[in-house]
Amino acid sequence: MKKSFLLAAIAFAVPGLCLAAADGQKIFQQKCKMCHKVNGVGGKLGPDLSKVSGQRDENYIRGKLKEPSKTKSDSVMPVFDGSPAEADAVVEYLKNLK
Ligand code: HEC
Repeated sequence: MKKSFLLAAIAFAVPGLCLAAADGQKIFQQKCKMCHKVNGVGGKLGPDLSKVSGQRDENYIRGKLKEPSKTKSDSVMPVFDGSPAEADAVVEYLKNLK
């Protein structure tokens, strides 16, 4: 109880450390949407990611952001250039898509 209150206080004091799915959606719109569709909207260079969380596990998605060429050597997908917290937020966003 006490500990979670402390964590909430820290998250409140340092909003940059506490990115959530909503932030992930913004980042997705800036960095991913030109190539990937979600729920019918977005580019078509890459696969539709609306159902990716049911098809791929979290580590796969995380790894894809860090090193797209690992799963496809000639991948045109760029390496994610945001912070680790931003990468987490995008993964969180994709995980929460239904
Ligand atoms: C320049 C276009 C482009 C951008 C920008 C891009 N991607 Fe991709 N992405 C692709 C392409 C093309 C593929 C399929 C080929 C491959 O696996 O590399 C892909 C594959 C993926 C996959 C694997 C899907 C699967 O089922 O194997 C994930 C997950 C993914 N992208 C997430 C993202 C996220 C999240 C972002 C934004 C941070 C992003 N991509 C930005 C082009 C892009």
